[in-house]
Amino acid sequence: MTMRYLTFALAKGRLAKKTMAMFEELGIYCEAMKDEKTRKLIFVNEDLKLKFFLAKASDVPTYVEYGAADIGVAGEDTILEEGRNLYEMMDLGFGKCKMCVCGPESAREKLQHGEQIRVASKYPQIAKDYFYNKKYQTVEIIKLNGSVELAPIVGLSEVIVDIVETGSTLKANGLMVLEEICDLSARMVVNQVSMKMEQERIRSLMVGLKRLTRKETGGIS
Ligand code: PRP
Repeated sequence: MTMRYLTFALAKGRLAKKTMAMFEELGIYCEAMKDEKTRKLIFVNEDLKLKFFLAKASDVPTYVEYGAADIGVAGEDTILEEGRNLYEMMDLGFGKCKMCVCGPESAREKLQHGEQIRVASKYPQIAKDYFYNKKYQTVEIIKLNGSVELAPIVGLSEVIVDIVETGSTLKANGLMVLEEICDLSARMVVNQVSMKMEQERIRSLMVGLKRLTRKETGGIS
């Protein structure tokens, strides 16, 4: 029987690059993906019967839930926000950042006193879960698609819920972290049927990746 392709959906950009660098350490190569000029979205490793495609980060969980990809790599932020039915298999140990409530110093008091404020975010579900289910605070959530730091500056909202990595975007715009919601990192997710049908190949890949992540964090390999 010919082996079927194992298909990966990778969040295009930095996460895909880091993922492929990790895969290379396991002897999984995809040279064509390294061509910076290419506009191709799908790449194949014929020897290992692997397919990789580059998707918009927020779509990775969708491809995996529907089985268009067996495996996905995306940020925990996207996975939490999408809330798809899939198995979250492992923390890849890179892409570390935090989900935070941010704003100007003047918003701190409003947050503490539970005032009805407006919260702008690319992550309305995460924001809703945090304010409604953890803080029991009624807020108005406004969905934005990027450059969220603008919102409190131009008066759209009092605070934002967003990712903070180095903190330089906040600093450059006179904003600060007011509350931390959770830690985030890159995750590997697996389609629920694929996990049964391709258990052997997926498990052996995970064993290799776990060995690498342990090495990176200085643990025993
Ligand atoms: C992300 C995030 C912050 C910034 C945080 O935005 O939404 O704006 O990075 O990084 P820092 O703490 O290292 O400055 P992204 O670059 O994805 O752009 P976008 O806001 O337009 O989506």
